[in-house]
Amino acid sequence: MRHFTGVQDIGDLHEALRQALEIKKDRFKYVELGRNKTLLMVFFNSSLRTRLSTQKAAMNLGMNVIVLDVNQGAWKLETERGVIMDGDKSEHLLEAVPVMGCYCDVIGVRSFARFENRADDYEEKILNQFINYSGRPVFSMEAATGHPLQSFADWITIEEHKTVVRPKVVMSWAPHPKSLPQAVPNSFAQWMVAAGYDVVITHPHGYELDTKFTAGARIEYDQMKAFEGADFIYGKNWSAASPEHYGQILNTDRSWTIGERQMAVTNNAYFMHCLPVRRNMIVTDDVIEGPRSLVIPEAANREISATVVLKMILESL
Ligand code: CP
Repeated sequence: MRHFTGVQDIGDLHEALRQALEIKKDRFKYVELGRNKTLLMVFFNSSLRTRLSTQKAAMNLGMNVIVLDVNQGAWKLETERGVIMDGDKSEHLLEAVPVMGCYCDVIGVRSFARFENRADDYEEKILNQFINYSGRPVFSMEAATGHPLQSFADWITIEEHKTVVRPKVVMSWAPHPKSLPQAVPNSFAQWMVAAGYDVVITHPHGYELDTKFTAGARIEYDQMKAFEGADFIYGKNWSAASPEHYGQILNTDRSWTIGERQMAVTNNAYFMHCLPVRRNMIVTDDVIEGPRSLVIPEAANREISATVVLKMILESL
């Protein structure tokens, strides 16, 4: 695997899972693989889990790590070609990216949706500039439309906790005060369908995700109906994805906040969320602190998914 931007890059899912469980038993089994290799992690946006887990994954593989926070201490970057650079941006991404490639062997990029232009976001303009111009293998640490390292970790977590071969996995929209990207729900839908689960997505009208990511999942607008018999509930907010309302908040209905009322109709479901989470907006205190909450095991598995992905990239060098 040279680049990792989605589930399509990971190859055989069962082999990826086998490697994840192998690494979980012995995180340092491949510590020689990354010797004298350098990972550059480039952050255009904030992070807690991705930053720590990916750095730890690189250390598991014996790599050196450089972290660049583009908005703190680096030159402000222009991303549009053809712009007369007479403003506050001192450097163009088209020089900065190949320069970054000179100092490392692998690049991880975090670049969220900007909500300025849907086409730019959905074409993954920033991530693709790294792929096209860095000369290095590139992996997504959450881009405009996907967060595959998170979904890989979520999938590992479900495999570790499921009690039936094909669990019912329900992803539910829940309210949030800010406009959030569709990256996590897009990826989660895609990975869960690829895993062969019974996947249901529930959200108010207007929050339909791009069918490119949700094909194979059922859409149910009645949240209570969607939750019936579910084995796993994945809470998440996202803003509107449609071209007409892209990035807008269309609904603030707090009855969608996931609490005991909804969990009571499930098959004693586990609760999942990628974190960070707004308590009592997305999920109540009781549910997230309850015995069926998997939010910490999911976060722990971020180290495992990142180690597998980096291992696969290093093996391709
Ligand atoms: N889930 C996740 O990616 O967390 P961070 O934004 O803190 O990295």
